Amino acid sequence: MKAPRPHRDSKFAVDEMTERQAGREHARLEAEIREHDEAYYQKDAPTVSDAEYDALRQRYNAIEARFPNLRTLDSLSRKVGAAPARGFAKVRHAVPMLSLDNAFSDGDVTDFAARIRRFLNLKPDESVAFVAEPKIDGLSMSLRYENGELVVAATRGDGTEGEDVTANIRTLKDVPHKLKGKRVPEVCEVRGEVYMNKADFLALNKRQAEAGGQVFANPRNSAAGSLRQKDPSITASRPLRFFAYAWGELSETPAKTQSGMIEWLGSIGFHVNPIWTLCHSPEELLAFQHEVGLRRATLDYDIDGVVYKVDRLDWQERLGFVSRTPRWAVAHKFAAERAATVVRDIEIQVGRTGALTPVAKLEPVTVGGVVVQNATLHNQDEIERLGVRIGDTVTIQRAGDVIPQVVEVVQEKPRGPKAYQFPKKCPCPLKTDVVREVIAGGEEGARAHCTGEFACPFQRTQHLMHFVSRRAFDIEGLGEKQIELFYERGWVKEPADIFTLRERDQKINLKSLEGYGETSVGNLYNAIDARREISLERFIYALGIRHVGETTAVALARGYGSWKAFHDAVLKVVDKDEEAREEMDALDQIGETVIDAVADYFGESHNRKAVERLVAQVRILDAEKPKTDTAVAGRTVVFTGTLEKMTRDEAKAMAERLGAKVSGSVSKKTDYVVAGPGAGSKLAEAKKHGVAVLTEDDWFKLIGRSA
Ligand code: IVH
Repeated sequence: MKAPRPHRDSKFAVDEMTERQAGREHARLEAEIREHDEAYYQKDAPTVSDAEYDALRQRYNAIEARFPNLRTLDSLSRKVGAAPARGFAKVRHAVPMLSLDNAFSDGDVTDFAARIRRFLNLKPDESVAFVAEPKIDGLSMSLRYENGELVVAATRGDGTEGEDVTANIRTLKDVPHKLKGKRVPEVCEVRGEVYMNKADFLALNKRQAEAGGQVFANPRNSAAGSLRQKDPSITASRPLRFFAYAWGELSETPAKTQSGMIEWLGSIGFHVNPIWTLCHSPEELLAFQHEVGLRRATLDYDIDGVVYKVDRLDWQERLGFVSRTPRWAVAHKFAAERAATVVRDIEIQVGRTGALTPVAKLEPVTVGGVVVQNATLHNQDEIERLGVRIGDTVTIQRAGDVIPQVVEVVQEKPRGPKAYQFPKKCPCPLKTDVVREVIAGGEEGARAHCTGEFACPFQRTQHLMHFVSRRAFDIEGLGEKQIELFYERGWVKEPADIFTLRERDQKINLKSLEGYGETSVGNLYNAIDARREISLERFIYALGIRHVGETTAVALARGYGSWKAFHDAVLKVVDKDEEAREEMDALDQIGETVIDAVADYFGESHNRKAVERLVAQVRILDAEKPKTDTAVAGRTVVFTGTLEKMTRDEAKAMAERLGAKVSGSVSKKTDYVVAGPGAGSKLAEAKKHGVAVLTEDDWFKLIGRSA
């Protein structure tokens, strides 16, 4: 964690400040808090601890309390939705969430089985059945249902107390809001693992990298980062999944065995991992682990071992716990998947944003059933830390990580002849200077950058690929291969060129290309024409401005409403118009980093001209600006219970159209709770905070519409 930057005014107590000092310190704190907000909310990468952040906020508020004229209209203390205290509320687990003891060797497993027999004092002819199942590499989660309705979702935390992540968990498709079937106990805590599929993780990382956002090391970190979001809509956009495998408090236990419980969990609406089996001896357990180990690389998700659990629940109860782990279960871990191989070369890859990533090109080697030929070296600092040279033998690993990592240089093997020099020139044909990126506070970051921007052909093709990608212009039939080919031939150098392909067809003669016929060329042109009309948010996202991912693009589109309004404002910001800058800053989700990135992008004349040419080819549809003249504009609304006159999505969209903010949980900031039948804990919360509770009809009356 980075400590807040010191400043000469920081050392003064608020009580002792002169008005001038207070003004300076207030402005400095404001800038710093905004930076932290941005790091936290937009990049999932907090730069200070919650306590440090709260201290900054308190000091800021204290200054305003003493010098009220500093509390301007756009003071942070007035900002709706800016959370003064961060972090999540704490939840005490009704039944503690325990962890598992580990077995690493075959001997550990036979010991485990023998211990159980001894403890239960079993006769030699009595066999113990175990459920054997994969150990999912994610985060454990406890979901509490009351009368079948999800009321609280909590992380494990220290096992006794976790964090309330209910609003975020509700966005997971795998987590039912209501349990199904007849066998649902009144109080029912379901436990299991939140995780991310490997393919989803890679795709998310790619999107994040393209938008200049945070890139995660592995699916587990990615799942954790996606869950710890203050804004549930960010979690909703992340592909999180859930496997149920255990339980906490239950007002009645619907089965007598672990295997019966797994089946029951499936019957009430959960995904349970299909790879489970009953084993009756240590040999069968070991065979299971071996078999799952072989399948590991082909599974869609990361696992780091298997778990064995005594099947009979009455025996589980008798066996009980040793400190914080059950005696009736054990995790049999896989050995880290490592292998040694030779670094043939170190290649520098250029990403869309110009970031240079060194990649070790390896002598192909099999690690955990997968042939590995590349391993990331992350950045220049990492190469220096490892001391890796071309020609070295290195250990690589895929321990839960989809992207293989270089762990260390094998010093006993012959070393490469010379230390690796990170190139000073970009490998792109422009051979531009490489610079280290500057991060907030003027420090040098770890990432190196090509300075060629869009003049750099590497960045250009990456940029074009982003432009046509699914979440941007989404042009069918224009993928990586086609973009590269069209670029090489000089047909498409910038986005606007895509839209003039048809009129240049005589010259280009696309159908003469291998793989193209009359029909496919026609289809491609039609697919391009179909995208000549585009929403403002997609258009902004497609431009590929650093730090402008989808969420930010939506915020900008909603904030300005039309391309013209956005474009005019941006040009003013480029011209250093303070008012325009402040206006942009005041938008929800937009902070200094985004504003600077937008200004840099439009500050480059070749970008401006390319955008102009593109705008001439398409029709950009206005975004709906949030209304300010409705009864619910600026208000925070929570919908709960079963809505009968509209779906949840409809209700949310309607409220947002009317300028309201829709939240998943009730707090003292909530203005209205709209409750349908079956509403549970949120009603109680509303009462506690004195929040107005409306029926669906009241809601329609309030917004002046009939149901
Ligand atoms: S059973 C009382 N089953 O592993 C024991 N845990 O190291 C309850 N985990 O915190 C846990 N897959 O997050 C169990 N199939 C599985 C699991 C599993 C992953 C995690 C869980 C737990 C950790 C313990």
